[in-house]
Amino acid sequence: MPYAFYFLKELQNLKVPFEVIITEAGKLVWKHELETDWQILKNFTSQLYEEHEISAPPASGSAPYKGMVIIPCSMGTLSAIASGSARNLLQRAADVMLKERKPLILVIRETPLNLIHLQNMLTCTQAGAVIFPAMPAFYHQPNSLEALILHFVKRIIQFLGFNEDTSIFWQGLKPNKN
Ligand SMILES: Cc1cc2nc3c(=O)[nH]c(=O)nc-3n(C[C@H](O)[C@H](O)[C@H](O)COP(=O)(O)O)c2cc1C
Repeated sequence: MPYAFYFLKELQNLKVPFEVIITEAGKLVWKHELETDWQILKNFTSQLYEEHEISAPPASGSAPYKGMVIIPCSMGTLSAIASGSARNLLQRAADVMLKERKPLILVIRETPLNLIHLQNMLTCTQAGAVIFPAMPAFYHQPNSLEALILHFVKRIIQFLGFNEDTSIFWQGLKPNKN
């Protein structure tokens, strides 16, 4: 959830319009990992949907969204996307992205991975999704947890093509270091 929090903050800074869907499990994990209520998400976006709102705009291929990022994406949601079960608004919206051939980024976070997880990642990749594991980098030598998380979320933003923040570019090893 810290990844989600910083990702939304970055989108806000960039003035990228976005909407948010939160699942019931997501609300619990938000509260546990960020020690704040999920309702603060209303400060980030004008459109905050809950998973039961199956008739909301993201459920339709006619809605004008450019893409979707599921951050974090649980193994449960990954599995639902791989099977196409579309049992809630989040899963349906992801299914819509795939059928409309729009970008779908799945920031999965789990370790270790079992065969089912791996097969579901393969299925989603074959269907057009991008598996973007919540796997922080260390080559930029982060000196805080915030720096570690920010670098990772900026990689997603770079991947989406919104902004090329040159501070995250790898410049090569400095000869006088290491
Ligand atoms: C504190 C907490 C942390 C969790 N972390 C993960 C995780 O990192 N990866 C994962 O796949 N599931 C994790 N889970 C389990 C998911 O929340 C659970 O599978 C849930 O049913 C997923 O629902 P969702 O896909 O609607 O979020 C966690 C659960 C709790 C309570």
